[in-house]
Amino acid sequence: MQTTTEFIPGKVITLSTELAKPSPFYFGFDIEDEFVNVLDTYNFDKIFFFTEQHLFELYGKALYEKIAAKYPCSLEFVPNGEACKYFPVLERTCEDLIAKGVSKKSLLLAFGGGTVGNIIGLAAGLIYRGIGYIEVPTSMTGQTDSTLSNKQAVNGQTGKNHFGLYHSPMFIWSDTKYLKTEPPVSKRSGIIEGIKNGFISDASFLDYLDTVLNPELNFSDEELYDLAYQIILSKLEILKQDPSEKHYGIVLEYGHTFGHAIEWLEKGKMSHGEAVSHGMKIAAELACELGFISPKDVALHYYMIEEKLGFNQPLPPYITTEQLMNAMICDNKKTGEDIRFVILENIGKCYNPEGDFLVTVDLNVVENIVTQFIASQQHDHQLAA
Ligand SMILES: NC(=O)c1ccc[n+]([C@@H]2O[C@H](COP(=O)([O-])OP(=O)(O)OC[C@H]3O[C@@H](n4cnc5c(N)ncnc54)[C@H](O)[C@@H]3O)[C@@H](O)[C@H]2O)c1
Repeated sequence: MQTTTEFIPGKVITLSTELAKPSPFYFGFDIEDEFVNVLDTYNFDKIFFFTEQHLFELYGKALYEKIAAKYPCSLEFVPNGEACKYFPVLERTCEDLIAKGVSKKSLLLAFGGGTVGNIIGLAAGLIYRGIGYIEVPTSMTGQTDSTLSNKQAVNGQTGKNHFGLYHSPMFIWSDTKYLKTEPPVSKRSGIIEGIKNGFISDASFLDYLDTVLNPELNFSDEELYDLAYQIILSKLEILKQDPSEKHYGIVLEYGHTFGHAIEWLEKGKMSHGEAVSHGMKIAAELACELGFISPKDVALHYYMIEEKLGFNQPLPPYITTEQLMNAMICDNKKTGEDIRFVILENIGKCYNPEGDFLVTVDLNVVENIVTQFIASQQHDHQLAA
């Protein structure tokens, strides 16, 4: 059952991240005018405002000027998108901050998508063993997923998010006005995690998504506001059961073991969400093969992902089973040499035979499923040609 919130532009509502170290989560549409009032309640000496150049021009400048009119505030840029989540950028960012006189009382502000939030959150966690930071997410993933986690990370040479730590923001400021200009592929990437939340923990949430989603992503301001709000609540419900993000919260990785491997093989050509959408389909096929969910449940995955969300491109034809299996072995969620999976027991519930919501599956079975999936995708490519 969904809780609703009235759409009142300019009105801020306050949620909490429900984590072991919770942060206030301010949410609304067109709420910029309230930002400095909230900032006034914190103690700090200076703000370092980090963003991407194009986001600064789109929205960041307006917020930056409001802050800079009252407080010492320095503007800093990071590379666009995933390109910022690497050690050289992290090192440069940290050293620049030291050179510019960052103190233990300074705040870093991350204005951008999940990537800006991740690298600036990590920098904040490392400088002087941890200084304060604020997240202002501008993407669907940022507003409904990455900021509802205290996990900060950069990528390594062999996989995503290999190096990081847990560091909670002082607060999160989520203004759905920003979502209007987000590129479609990025917006879909955020929504796919909401679809995932339905599959792993709340079948009725899929009914809600079925009524609001459309593959063109045509949403009014009010619909976009409500969609973001509902996806946030769907993740908070899961976090309430595991504020440490270390036990039940692992179900949020549904489809991600396959997805991370695909994303890694695509080397930036495919978004995180699109890779996860393929990963969820493979995970559904696997759960069906293991006798848990039905072919109809598998079809529901394809329907929600392809027909309702519009992630309908087949997996690139050059990805092989061997590559995908090898990439999974490097995945950061592996335990020793074993790859284990989040497996659906039925729609809205994950299988938990070993007490940690991860399931050991015979890798020959996994390999067969991956091979069949890749073959079906190549068939789709031939049909499209
Ligand atoms: N910490 C976590 O638990 C967690 C959870 C989910 C995702 N993540 C991480 O988040 C990242 C993905 O986040 P993302 O999808 O926001 O990617 P992103 O930060 O790369 O943003 C996607 C693209 O959209 C652009 N963009 C963002 N907001 C915009 C707006 N309002 N208008 C126009 N363009 C806009 C960005 O410039 C970028 O090109 C990945 O690195 C992923 O690993 C972390």
